Amino acid sequence: MLRIGFVGWRGMVGSVLMGRMREEGDFKGFEPLFFTTSNVGGEGPDMGLEIPPLKDGYDVELLSSMDIIVTCQGGDYTKRISPEIRRLGWKGYWIDSASALRMEDDSIIVLDPVNRSVIDSGLSSDIKTYVGGNCTVSLMLMALSGLLASGHVEWISSMTYQAASGAGAKNMKELIAQMDVLGSVSKALLDDPASTAIAIDEVVTQNLRSNTFPTENFGAPLAGSIIPWIDSPMDSGQTREEWKGYAESNRILQTRTPIPVDGVCVRVGAMRCHSQGLTIKLGTDVPIDEVSDMLKNGNRWVQLVSNDKESTLQHLTPAAVNGTLTVPVGRLRKMLMGPEYVTAFTVGDQLLWGAAEPIRRILNIIIEHLSG
Ligand code: HSE
Repeated sequence: MLRIGFVGWRGMVGSVLMGRMREEGDFKGFEPLFFTTSNVGGEGPDMGLEIPPLKDGYDVELLSSMDIIVTCQGGDYTKRISPEIRRLGWKGYWIDSASALRMEDDSIIVLDPVNRSVIDSGLSSDIKTYVGGNCTVSLMLMALSGLLASGHVEWISSMTYQAASGAGAKNMKELIAQMDVLGSVSKALLDDPASTAIAIDEVVTQNLRSNTFPTENFGAPLAGSIIPWIDSPMDSGQTREEWKGYAESNRILQTRTPIPVDGVCVRVGAMRCHSQGLTIKLGTDVPIDEVSDMLKNGNRWVQLVSNDKESTLQHLTPAAVNGTLTVPVGRLRKMLMGPEYVTAFTVGDQLLWGAAEPIRRILNIIIEHLSG
């Protein structure tokens, strides 16, 4: 029976992954072993089955007795342990949600509804490292897979509206703590029907700018504001998050001629759904109905939302999509720039298709590959 080790299952992505695996009844047909970097001997997650006490996530001997290791522990862990067990001659499959190994020659970025053929050829050529993509990139590709497959896309500009969850669990809490401060300081004014919006705004702005406003994790207010900077700077003037748009999209799709993807990545006060406003340059004037059909038929999670207010408000918001696997695409139309320019808006859950789901699915694909 396959032995599969799970590391980092308690963190945010890890626990969403565990939740999805439980939901889908994935814990069968293999022997799971749960590892920890802080609580050796402790109790593992409740998966509805007997599991042994937690093992040491730094025990490379034990780790190298696994057929597959699934880690959501983060980049530092990956950078330390993955080369160590490979040095020991470990030939197992390393499945990772962190970005550390994404651009390595012998790794594949996984998003199977979009690049199943890339994954399959990786498996048959004995590639052993499979890494989840950047959430923004994966969600954009899930939304556009049908159009991208048509070969009509010349370039894409993506202006993002990224949720707090992309920055981590502490940031999600900080966003709500910031909202809480703003709610408390304006409560008296809100309760008074005679108070003006300008008076409320003054109190809010004063608090956003005060030294006591909770900004330890974001470094700036997010509630009542936005932050147009995500990740570290690159020489190009892009942020690393913006750089990944091009680098990872083309790597996932294994494009022969790379498709330029660029834009501005912005953090907004959504909890766990990333949204993106897209400008898509097509090679020719493809009728919008055809574009719409291509998008709709891209994969079974895409939902085409008609370009009207009611449908948009009902289906195309983080509030509507949070916690679901649906990837709606809407606001679809040709732009004034010319008939080859299409705009669209998409929303997707950053922790599901953006992180845990591609990992859950590649695990099943590898299990199937090993059992077949
Ligand atoms: N880097 C992304 C973000 C999340 O900050 O939103 C992970 O892909």
